[in-house]
Amino acid sequence: MKAVLCTHAGAPDDLVAADVPDPAPGPGQAVVDVAAAGLNFFDLLIVAGKYQFKPAFPFSPAAEFAGTVSAVGAGVTGLAAGDRVMGYCGWGAARERIAADAGTLVKLPAGLDFDRASGLSVTYGTSYYALKDRAGLKPGETLVVLGASGGVGLAAVELGKLIGARVIACASSDDKLDFARRHGADETVNYAREDLREALKRLGGERGIDVVYDPVGGPYAEAALRSLGWLGRFLVVGFAAGDIPKLPLNLVLLKSCDVLGVFWGAWIKREPDAHRANAADLVRWCADGKLSAHVHATYPLADAARALKDIADRKVLGKAVLRP
Ligand SMILES: NC(=O)c1ccc[n+]([C@@H]2O[C@H](COP(=O)([O-])OP(=O)(O)OC[C@H]3O[C@@H](n4cnc5c(N)ncnc54)[C@H](OP(=O)(O)O)[C@@H]3O)[C@@H](O)[C@H]2O)c1
Repeated sequence: MKAVLCTHAGAPDDLVAADVPDPAPGPGQAVVDVAAAGLNFFDLLIVAGKYQFKPAFPFSPAAEFAGTVSAVGAGVTGLAAGDRVMGYCGWGAARERIAADAGTLVKLPAGLDFDRASGLSVTYGTSYYALKDRAGLKPGETLVVLGASGGVGLAAVELGKLIGARVIACASSDDKLDFARRHGADETVNYAREDLREALKRLGGERGIDVVYDPVGGPYAEAALRSLGWLGRFLVVGFAAGDIPKLPLNLVLLKSCDVLGVFWGAWIKREPDAHRANAADLVRWCADGKLSAHVHATYPLADAARALKDIADRKVLGKAVLRP
C-alpha cells in the first residue's frame, strides 16, 4: 500500500512517498481503509521533531482518519468489516490502511461523510473538552477565540455558539473573520490591524470576558488574559505563533481567574469513557448539521507536503484533509 513517510526530523518537503506492507489486525485491533486523513498544525511539529510526541522513524504523519473497517482482530466485538468509522491515532494515518485499537474507533452516522469526519476528532474533541470540561462555559457567557478560523479555533467558535455563549472571534484577516461570522461568531477583532487588548476591553464591557480560548500564544496571550473579568477562565490550548508566552501572575490574582491547561491527547487516555461520550455528541451534531467540520481543501496523498505548507502559511480555514 501507499504511504507518506517521515524518515528524519525536517520540513514537509522532506516527506517521501513509499510502498509499505499492508497491516494485519492484532488482537483487539481493526484495520481501516483510510478514505480521508485530517492534518493538524501539530503535524508540522511532529515532522520537525519538535512536538511532545516523538515517534520512531520512519512514521506517517496525520493524527486522525475516517474510513471503512476491512478486517478485525481476535476479541473485537461491536465492530465488523464494512463499518464506517473515524479514529484518532496520534500519528500514522497518511497511508492507505491503518491498524487501530478497535475500542478507540467511533462509528459514523449516515449523513457524516469521510472528509468531514476525518477532521472532527482532534479539533472538535479538543475544543469541546476545553470549553465544557475545563472551562465550564455557560449559556450567556462571553467567549473570546483566538485563531478563530483555524482547525481548533473554528471548532471553538461553533461549539461556543452551540453552548449558548456570545462568541468574539479574533484572527489576522478580514476574510478569516468573515468566515468565522458565517460559522456563528457574534463579533470579531482583526488582531493584525487592531490592538487586541483595547478591542477586547471595549467588547468585554464592565463585566469583562468570561472565557478566552488561546491556540495561538505569542503576543496575544497576555492581551487576552487582561480582558478577563472576575472569575474568568483562560484556556491554554497551543502556541501556533511559535513563542510560548509568560503570563504575569498578578493578573490571575487580581481577577481571581483560572489559567487552565488543555491536553486533549492525554485526557482521552486518562478518561476514555468521558472522551467517548464527547465524541458521540460531536458526531451526532456534525451529522445533524449543527457543526460544520469545515474542510478547506482535500489533497491527494502525494501532496501531503503542499497541504502541510498551506497550514504553516496560515492559509487553511478549518481543515486540510488528505485522501489516500
Ligand atoms: N492542547 C491540545 O490538546 C491541542 C489539540 C490540538 C491542537 N492544539 C494546538 O492548537 C494550535 C492550533 O492548531 P490547529 O491545528 O487548529 O492549527 P491551524 O488550523 O493551523 O490554526 C492555527 C491558527 O493560528 C494562527 N496563527 C498565528 N500565528 C501563526 C503562525 N506563525 N503559524 C501558523 N498559524 C498561526 C492562524 O490564525 P491567524 O492567521 O488568524 O492568526 C491559524 O489559523 C497548535 O498550536 C496545536 O498544536 C492543541
